[in-house]
This record gives sequence, C-alpha cells and structure tokens, in this order.
Amino acid sequence: MKIFDEIESEVQSYARSFPRVFNKAVGEFLYDQEGNEYLDFLAGAGTLNYGHNNPLFKEKLLEYIHNDGITHGLDLHTQAKGEFLEAFNEKILKPRGMEYVVQFTGPTGTNAVEAALKLARNVTGRENVISFTNGFHGVSLGALSATGNSHHRGAAGVSLSGTSRMPFDGYLGEDIDTTAYLDKVLSDSSSGIDKPAAVIVETVQGEGGINAASFEWLRNLEKVCRKHEVLLIVDDIQAGCGRTGTYFSFEQAGINPDIVTLSKSLGGYGLPFAVVLFKPELDLWKPGEHNGTFRGNNFAFVTAKAAIDHYWSDDKFAQEIQRKGAYVSKRLDAIIDAYGEGNFTTRGRGMFQGINCVNGELAAKITRKAFQQGLIIETSGADDHVVKFLCPLIISDENLKKGIDIVEQAIKEVCAKEDSIPEEKDYFEPTRLAS
Ligand SMILES: Cc1ncc(COP(=O)(O)O)c(C=O)c1O
Repeated sequence: MKIFDEIESEVQSYARSFPRVFNKAVGEFLYDQEGNEYLDFLAGAGTLNYGHNNPLFKEKLLEYIHNDGITHGLDLHTQAKGEFLEAFNEKILKPRGMEYVVQFTGPTGTNAVEAALKLARNVTGRENVISFTNGFHGVSLGALSATGNSHHRGAAGVSLSGTSRMPFDGYLGEDIDTTAYLDKVLSDSSSGIDKPAAVIVETVQGEGGINAASFEWLRNLEKVCRKHEVLLIVDDIQAGCGRTGTYFSFEQAGINPDIVTLSKSLGGYGLPFAVVLFKPELDLWKPGEHNGTFRGNNFAFVTAKAAIDHYWSDDKFAQEIQRKGAYVSKRLDAIIDAYGEGNFTTRGRGMFQGINCVNGELAAKITRKAFQQGLIIETSGADDHVVKFLCPLIISDENLKKGIDIVEQAIKEVCAKEDSIPEEKDYFEPTRLAS
C-alpha cells in the first residue's frame, strides 16, 4: 500500500521488518490482506500475553460497549475502574501479601515510568536515580534518561540528566556481583555519585537483550537499597503480567519493591493502560499534581479485570507458563548445542527468552528467514543481536513447537550445517494442561 510510504513518518520501525498490511488477528496468529497467516512471536512487544482478540475478553468488552459503558472518564470513579481495582486487590495483591496504592497514569509504559521517577524524587527530595546498563524504560525525557540505548538517547535533543548508570547483573562478567560496586559508591561520599532517590531496574531486560538478573543479584540489590535508604523501583512493564512465569517478575526473587510500574499486557486485550503501584506511605501526591487526560482506560479496566478473573484466580496459568517456559529453554539449549559453535548462547526466564547471536547481522538473517516461513519474531539488544521469543503465553503446545521449529530451520540454513540436526525429541513435560 503506497499510503504508508507517502505520508507515514520515517520513524516507523517494526513495519520495516514485517512489510505487510495486516488486517486480522486471533490468538497467536496474525493475518495479512492477502490472507497469509503468521505465527506471532512478537505479540505487541509483550502486550498480547493473552493472545490477539482473546474471546473471553472480547465478550466482556462488547457487552460493556453495548450497554453504553463509560469510554472516557478522566480520573472519575467509574464502575469499571472500581471492579478492576477490586479484582486486582483481591486476586493479585492480597494473595501475594502486597500492599500497594494504585496510581493511574497516561496509558503507555513511559507514562508510568515518568510518574514513578517523579514520585521517588518528590518523596525523597533527591534528584539522582540509579539505572542500569542496557536498561530500557521508555522514550519520554525522564524515562529516556534512565534508558541506556544510544539510538534512543541520541534523539532526545537535550541533555539527559538526573540519572547515574551502574553495571547490570553480568555486565562485568559472570562472577562479579555488581551490587557490591553500587554499595561501594553509595558508601563513599567522594565517589561522585549523588545519593539517589531510587534505583530503577528490570528483572529481565527486554529491549536491552533479554538479560535476566539472578534472584540473588536482585536480593542483593534490595539489600543495598535498604542499607542506603534508597527506593527500589521495579519496571515490570515488559517482564510482568506473567511473562517470566509469575504475575510479577520479582516474586520468585522474594523482593519487596517500593514502587512497581506495569503496562503492556496489563489491559489484556492490547488496550493502552498503565499503572504505578507504590507503598501507601509514599503516597504524598497532592490532588491533580500529576495528571493526564487519558488516566485509566475504561475499556482496558474491563479487559484487565477479565484477564485477572480468568487467568489469575489460581496458580494454574502460572504453572502453564512455567511448563511452556521449560520447553522453550530445552529447545533453545538443544539448538545452541547443535549449531552454537561460538555463534549463539541462550538467555532469559520463563516465556521471556532469547538466542544471543554473535552479531546483529546474524540475528537479522535468522528473523528474516523465519518471516519468510510465516513467523513474526524480532530482535533486541544493543546491536539487535538477540532473537527475542515473546509469543503469547496462551499459545498452544503445537504452535509453540512450530514457531521454534521455524527458528531452528532458519538457524540451520544460516549456518548451512545440514547434518547436525538433532533428533526429534519430546521436550514438553509429560503433564499437558489445557492451554
Ligand atoms: C521495561 C520497559 N519499560 C518501559 C517501556 C516503555 O513502554 P511504552 O513503549 O509503552 O512507553 C518499555 C517498552 O518496551 C519496557 O520494555
């Protein structure tokens, strides 16, 4: 379609990797105008954990629209918002022993990050925020100053201030605990690092190349924060909502962040929606001090509640994600064993995994070949060198296998090592629960 070349800005990005006009999507599949079917391992960059047009949410949404439910309500109390808050409190927060206040921000992830940073600075009266190498927190100026990527930072047009960068887990090598360095600089009044308001961290860095922090590192990070009375912000925008195998990505680490940001799959249906969660004692906002016309999306309240009710009322869905995640790990490890030879390693956690290629060119060849075979899969990382597996969590076992098979075949062709294909094995755990 010529119109995209004619008047859509050059800023478009995913459309360059997948140059088709899409017109339909169901579950883990996207369809283009010519009727071609694609398995979607990009899933709205982590927004479609429950699949495209999830029928359970669609029904609730259609009913809500049919009944003239509120579409836009600024931050007015609406029934849909109340019901979302009830569900979130009863089924997500309380069972995990969490006590957080919920702030509705503008609807994208970066809006939530801006609010989190502003709150931390206002509450502590300090400006500096510690963020990590390869961290990605959004592209509005406050969030961008906490983001590492030079491509994005370069577009700021102003100096990006108020943050100090520290090495993420593994950045200086496997055996170096970089939280010890953070502790050292915060303990030394001449380190040149101003005492920060907060530390902002992703437990698994998505855009930065699927770098998973170990649970021990996260616990040590929390200890350093507590020792120096610095707030801990977990940016769970991409890793949260079940992606790593639990609702919040930090649950298994057993840490207790002061502030959490959520967006992407929170709304459930791909609808824009973001929140900041924080400890009640941090709620020092004055009325309307941080505002925005689109704070809270009523359609997303409806679908977010449906997602919580259906998938998070017990731990079956989490177990399902963990089972599928174990399958992905085994498959990716087997692929690396067969074709690695120094070119590839695996990384990630749960259904948030990647194949780290020696360079971006190799990763691009693999994803291009995969696309020719009907698989939409993207790269991430500083040099776009990590093939990023981000399929909907509700994907069937069969389609999960099919997508990974396509990547394996692409790697095989790129490496042209036809003889070393491993024997077909059943990598799924024996207990197959309904998906
Ligand atoms: C961890 C994290 N934080 C923040 C953002 C920004 O979200 P948005 O693109 O919705 O502004 C992203 C987006 O990829 C992200 O992965």
